[in-house]
Amino acid sequence: MFTIGLLASGKGSNIQAIIEYIKTEGLSIKPGVVLTDNPSSGALEIAKREGIEHHCIPEKKYKTILSQKTEKEYVRVLKEYKVDLVCLAGFMRVIKEELLGSFTGRTINIHPSLLPAFPGLEAWKQALNYGVKFTGCTTHFVEADIDSGPIILQAVVPVLKDDTPETLHKRIQEKEHIIYPLTIKLIAEGKLSISGRKVYITS
Ligand code: GRF
Repeated sequence: MFTIGLLASGKGSNIQAIIEYIKTEGLSIKPGVVLTDNPSSGALEIAKREGIEHHCIPEKKYKTILSQKTEKEYVRVLKEYKVDLVCLAGFMRVIKEELLGSFTGRTINIHPSLLPAFPGLEAWKQALNYGVKFTGCTTHFVEADIDSGPIILQAVVPVLKDDTPETLHKRIQEKEHIIYPLTIKLIAEGKLSISGRKVYITS
């Protein structure tokens, strides 16, 4: 069974969408463990409800990164659950060598913009303030630089005249809930090949 580890800090709607998709499609993918740095993350509630192993591993020393010691602990747990793929879903800390070295080419993320536009925080607000007519979301492999790795899938969302940050983010998330589960399925089924920065879907 292809096992995924899910890391989140926030409400966990992507995790919910991934779990639903696995169930409704009857995929041979096991959500092995949900990990969070935030004891109030909705991801923990979802994991409990769905009967998925879960752990909160907080980081006391830093706000936006993990200390080497804490990152090592994440790796230890991911290995304990024999995770094949690490899926970041709104995990609000920059992942570094400790984890990326252990899961090289096996760590993915979802970002709420059409990368390489608007990397970083609150990308939907950045898009709205910039005045773009279209934004969207991107799944990508994770590399050391933030929101930089090879792009897997993207979905486009038009920016509407009356959009607020909230309405735009909501429509972006609707697309996230489609492309993230699909990305995981493609990887689990061995249907992606990578050449440099380019990711190809094979049939
Ligand atoms: C999503 O918008 C994702 O693109 C970003 O963090 C957010 C997580 O949302 N990386 P949720 O916790 O899955 O609802």
